[in-house]
Amino acid sequence: MTVEGKTILVTGSTDGVGRWLALRLGAEGARVLVHGRDRRRGEAVVAEIGRQGGEATFLEADLASLGEVRKLADVVQGQTDGLDVLVNNAGIGTAGDTREVSADSCELRFAVNYLAGFLLTRLLLPKIERRAPSRIVNVSSLGQQAIDFSDVMLTRGYSGMRAYRQSKLAQILFTVDLAEELGGRNVTVNALHPATYMDTTMVRLSGVRPMSTVEDGGEAILRLVASPAVESLSGRFFNGKRESRADAQAYDPDARSRLRRLSFDLVGMADPRSAQRP
Ligand SMILES: NC(=O)c1ccc[n+]([C@@H]2O[C@H](COP(=O)([O-])OP(=O)(O)OC[C@H]3O[C@@H](n4cnc5c(N)ncnc54)[C@H](OP(=O)(O)O)[C@@H]3O)[C@@H](O)[C@H]2O)c1
Repeated sequence: MTVEGKTILVTGSTDGVGRWLALRLGAEGARVLVHGRDRRRGEAVVAEIGRQGGEATFLEADLASLGEVRKLADVVQGQTDGLDVLVNNAGIGTAGDTREVSADSCELRFAVNYLAGFLLTRLLLPKIERRAPSRIVNVSSLGQQAIDFSDVMLTRGYSGMRAYRQSKLAQILFTVDLAEELGGRNVTVNALHPATYMDTTMVRLSGVRPMSTVEDGGEAILRLVASPAVESLSGRFFNGKRESRADAQAYDPDARSRLRRLSFDLVGMADPRSAQRP
């Protein structure tokens, strides 16, 4: 798969590894949908892609609001006739131990890092299927912690680290679950840990010394976006470019269906799988 002529949405591409990926995809001839919540930085990425001779559009949305996620999906639907690749990359890191909530009263990292991507993917699925073979890439992490279904919103024992890790594992449960649903429909969905402590804003904010570059992580994401080597793989988790195992909860069907039910409830959508059951 070459990215030339493909329409690719990268969430959180105003900074960090998402920005690196958007620039690279633009340079290779993709039509890039650059997303972020900061218009000035978003337009700067679009302008840089334009200077390289590429084509890009900026789409503004704060993923801490499900209403804004819906508007983002509407804009994508209006501006494209199909989406070849969706990269759910936007995220908030581990810094800070004060619990925060989204516009919809969900714990903030669960909302931004996981639930926004869940809803965006669900809403854009028809556009993605229209371009099959097409791909969904969820940028997760090796930092994972099992979801406590008795307190998903972390009202007790909160820490920024725990919230981050839970949200990153939720992305992987979603990846495995969606891959099962999409079997035979020519749309793959995979998750990855791009690289460890890349030199990005979220790592600097957490006070950790960077150990790798955005290029290291960006190349690993690009492989899942475009490489023929992974074209038939779906529901997998990668550590960089190597296939790996996620936390055991990702392989627990009960946990996956609990998260699935909760997620459909939180976003107010019907689960297409329950509709198929008698
Ligand atoms: N850095 C690492 O070593 C590492 C390791 C493993 C996994 N990851 C994953 O890689 C992904 C990218 O991280 P990064 O290191 O590149 O971080 P980053 O430089 O902090 O970039 C994060 C991106 O997400 C956007 N974002 C955050 N909150 C948002 C919101 N509410 N609405 C819309 N956009 C929002 C940011 O926009 P603003 O600039 O406006 O905040 C930015 O564009 C994340 O999913 C992260 O978990 C990173």
